[in-house]
Amino acid sequence: MPADRAAGRVGPGLPGGRGGPLVRRCPPERASDGEPEWVGGGEPEWVGGGEPEWVGGGEPEWVGDGEPKRASDGEEVAAMSPAQDVAALTRAASDAADRALADVDLDRAVAAIERLGRVALASMLDALRRRGLFTAPGDRHTVQEVLTRAHVVPEHRGLIRRWLTVLTREGLLAEDGGWLCATPGAAEATGPALDRAWAWIGTEWRAAMGAALTIEYARRNAERLPDLMTGAVPAFMLLFPEGGMRLARALYRESVTARYQHGAVAALVAEIARRRRPEQGPERRPEQGPERRPERGPEGRPERGPEGRPERGPERGPEGRPERGPEGRPERGPERGPEGRPVQGSERGPVRILEVGAGTGATTEAVLPALDGVAADYLYTDVSRYFLDRARERLRDRAWVRFARLDIDADPGPQGYAPGSFDVVVGGGVLNAARDTDASVRWLAGLLAPGGWLVLSEPTVEEYWVMTSLAFMMADPGDGRAETGATFLTLDQWHAVLDRAGLRRAVTLPGAGHPLERLGHRVFAATTGDGPGAVSPDLAQL
Ligand SMILES: C[S@@+](CC[C@H](N)C(=O)[O-])C[C@H]1O[C@@H](n2cnc3c(N)ncnc32)[C@H](O)[C@@H]1O
Repeated sequence: MPADRAAGRVGPGLPGGRGGPLVRRCPPERASDGEPEWVGGGEPEWVGGGEPEWVGGGEPEWVGDGEPKRASDGEEVAAMSPAQDVAALTRAASDAADRALADVDLDRAVAAIERLGRVALASMLDALRRRGLFTAPGDRHTVQEVLTRAHVVPEHRGLIRRWLTVLTREGLLAEDGGWLCATPGAAEATGPALDRAWAWIGTEWRAAMGAALTIEYARRNAERLPDLMTGAVPAFMLLFPEGGMRLARALYRESVTARYQHGAVAALVAEIARRRRPEQGPERRPEQGPERRPERGPEGRPERGPEGRPERGPERGPEGRPERGPEGRPERGPERGPEGRPVQGSERGPVRILEVGAGTGATTEAVLPALDGVAADYLYTDVSRYFLDRARERLRDRAWVRFARLDIDADPGPQGYAPGSFDVVVGGGVLNAARDTDASVRWLAGLLAPGGWLVLSEPTVEEYWVMTSLAFMMADPGDGRAETGATFLTLDQWHAVLDRAGLRRAVTLPGAGHPLERLGHRVFAATTGDGPGAVSPDLAQL
């Protein structure tokens, strides 16, 4: 381990570390501006340009030829015991994930990621100082005062409250009887020192990860934090500058955690698909040929909305609004036709895979090649048509990949997805965007056929750099995060979510002792456990 990590140093000019004092006391000086103010009546003015238009609202679109990919000749279906299945599955995923990092100096990469967190933390304090708060020793403010003086718009107040909690927890602020103040030395981490820290982290990141677009994006957000807080700059403009996906694509590909997760998820999906024994599964109806529907609207129609706002759910109309749900499964199967008929996976043979929140396609790009030689029908979904349009273009040579819109914040049934109609449901870093993780996981579990698998990758620790960037696009959750305001569910909370959905947990990676374990990103595989792919209950907690 590098000496600076061992000593708990986290980067130039950045004090403390996670082991620092949780709460220090404010100095006894008077607050600069008198008694705390009750601001119940005075909402800060929202200076933003209004709510960005969301890309949803149209009919779901099924594109692609819709022909499932056929198995290559001579494919063998492995016959293994449940115990062997889970152990082999775990090993295959773990090995593949590690192979994806073969050329990376992991210690350096992990240190760079941890330092990014500290730089982001200092950027929070810096942003508040740029708003005139905590500028002099002895300046102290209540939480409410911070929100008012920084002109934080209502939708970001939960996030900024959380900032204050983590700044206090990490020792940059101290709390005393409801007053917050900057701790001695904390201010030195802001201003020019912060500029140097960002430059340094950029160099480190590039050295470890081979590219530094993530840092470019994170730094750009840090610089604009005062405007993000007030809504003057919508966060999606920073993620999709000029409507381009360059930064978003980098975010989900560049870091070691992303590479690890894609490797593990791809191996899990491929192994599950290869082990599936269709002859033991539910009887499938005969397959019918694809039927193309005309595409709706020209590419990139301006009325389709902004290039982004990907993290927050779509506009939520009343239940069952006609524009919310697919009009059946138009491309294959006897059930296509009348509006509102269920969407099904393919009818026979090919493993039916549904990806939710597929977005820029980082997970997809890892999974599709891993399915080489497997008969598969892949349904690429997202809530945002912006992503679907681009994915359709990028993946046009993969005729067995189909595209549709699916909102994980709503029951898939009324959206036209039939229960039990997929063998594998994959979600790469999307479930944290759910308003109610329990509800979304239950809905996805309901889409699984007996013996089906849910394969997810998710962060399970608070990420400070996400709190200064992507979190400005995330809706306030109504689940286990609501109480604390945390951006992500913890590992224990995740396990509980999977359990409550009636799934059997089989794989959680990386395991204890892995160099990436401390970063808290996890890959989960859980099964309905009542079909041909079932694992035995005693293995469910492996
Ligand atoms: C962090 S990205 C996931 C990364 C993605 N796997 C990729 O490779 O780009 C989150 C994705 O979830 C999608 N999303 C957000 N809210 C959603 C919802 N309610 N239903 C479905 N997808 C949603 C976003 O549009 C975005 O594509």
